[in-house]
Amino acid sequence: MSVTTKTSQPAVYNDSVVRGFAVMSVIYGVVGMLVGVIIAAQLTWPELNMGIEWLTYGRLRPLHTNAVIFAFGGSVLFATSYYVVQRTCHTALFSNKLAWLTFWGWNAVIVSAVVSLPLGLTQGKEYAELIWPIDLLITVVWVSYAIVFFGTVGIRKVKHIYVANWFFGAYIITIALLHIFNNLAIPTGATHSYSAYAGVQDAMVQWWYGHNAVGFFLTAAFLGMMYYFIPKQAERPVYSYRLSIVHFWALIFTYMWAGPHHLHYTALPDWTQSVGMVFSLILLAPSWGGMINGIMTLSGAWHKLRDDPILRFLIVSLSFYGMSTFEGPMMSIKTVNALSHYTDWTVGHVHSGALGWVGLVSMGSLYYLIPRLFGQKKMYSVPAIELHFWVATIGIVLYIAAMWIAGVMQGLMWRSVNPDGSLTYTFVESVKATFPFYVIRLLGGVLYLSGMLVMLWNVIMTMRQGRVVDVPVLAVNPAHA
Ligand code: HEM
Ligand code: HEM
Repeated sequence: MSVTTKTSQPAVYNDSVVRGFAVMSVIYGVVGMLVGVIIAAQLTWPELNMGIEWLTYGRLRPLHTNAVIFAFGGSVLFATSYYVVQRTCHTALFSNKLAWLTFWGWNAVIVSAVVSLPLGLTQGKEYAELIWPIDLLITVVWVSYAIVFFGTVGIRKVKHIYVANWFFGAYIITIALLHIFNNLAIPTGATHSYSAYAGVQDAMVQWWYGHNAVGFFLTAAFLGMMYYFIPKQAERPVYSYRLSIVHFWALIFTYMWAGPHHLHYTALPDWTQSVGMVFSLILLAPSWGGMINGIMTLSGAWHKLRDDPILRFLIVSLSFYGMSTFEGPMMSIKTVNALSHYTDWTVGHVHSGALGWVGLVSMGSLYYLIPRLFGQKKMYSVPAIELHFWVATIGIVLYIAAMWIAGVMQGLMWRSVNPDGSLTYTFVESVKATFPFYVIRLLGGVLYLSGMLVMLWNVIMTMRQGRVVDVPVLAVNPAHA
């Protein structure tokens, strides 16, 4: 069926902005992971900061987290949400101009972060380090994003709102709320401000933000991707649509209450910590419900895993999602947290989610998306996708296994006491014992980064042999007909 241009609706999808975000996400992935490798090397050999203040670990670490979460992850989410909402609503974007404003605005935020963080300009709140003028810019971009996304849902040509859009929608609304409330501050200069909250309230708001940034930025939105790209790549409908709706409501309701597990044994009232722990344990159920729904979508098509590396990226990402959402609830139990907190176990948990889930599901989705955005049937090199998959997977296993062993070892060393009550080990002994594991983590990181470089090469080659085609609304890309 073709679409006429009688109304002001353009007859083609607005894919140019999707292309922009998709390509930038690969570039930001390389940059963010490179900074990850540099800080992993600095933890192993601290003198690698070369005595230059801009390159010190304390400044590069937030650069890494901001680059991988907001530049890489954020660009993947802009690209996929704009692509998915158009296809599932059978209409072009509500406003192409506003969508381009989000592209340039988001990139301006990233450039500002790249300049301000090494200069040491920070609010000192984890994952919300950026100073207040940049926060204002983020707010403008995010409101525009919400207008484009919900505007597109509003002008949809089908009655039903596909479940992926529910997840994307929840993420857009929640991130707006989190960003605004956690960053409420009183400016005292162009680059400095004081938080509107003090003491334990400040900590509570910060981890309500921090945990839901994980829950909505790094989880709900990527689940939205999962619900679109797995059925597409597997050419199968979602295993249970009913389960996907239960998954959605249970997940977004439960995540909101789990934040205090980041503040166990602190000045936060004890009952609040217990509420955080209980909701974290409950969170296992919707998380695994979603994982099972995604994996079971392959029912009857398991053989595709054998020779489709894109599907393998997507399905293995779900296995890591299942692993980190099993581990998270365990770590939220106060007695377990007494061992894991402050150790590298947390860093292992983070990266099984970040490299395994967020990274792999992004790569799988981009491998689906990029050839289609450049009028191609498939990526320039399928063996290169295969290579990327194995290099990345081995890298993740090295990274997280090293951090688990190091973390448990550190926790046990720090709590070990002699019969007279004195500590068995000094802190520096635990640092020395960690050294080999830092080397292994570095190796894992180098492998993961190499995979990303292979992807960059493959994307450039696909773009070079491809061409930009306008895809008519509702029609199939001629390249895949
Ligand atoms: C080549 C890949 C990567 C390497 C080598 C790497 C390395 C590191 C290192 C060394 C740290 C500091 C750990 C510490 O404070 O002790 C870190 C922190 C972190 N990284 Fe990565 N990283 C990589 C990729 C990623 C990706 C793709 C993401 C997210 C999508 C991510 C998210 C984070 C987060 C959230 C933290 C803070 C963890 C915490 O506070 O516990 N990283 N990373
Ligand atoms: C059911 C789901 C999950 C639960 C209940 C959970 C629970 C936890 C707990 C208890 C901690 C340690 C807090 C501490 O001792 O400081 C933690 C840290 C963390 N988790 Fe999870 N987790 C879950 C899933 C995930 C996923 C899927 C990701 C990544 C995509 C992730 C990313 C993080 C990050 C970044 C931190 C470190 C925060 C920081 O201290 O900077 N979590 N999580």
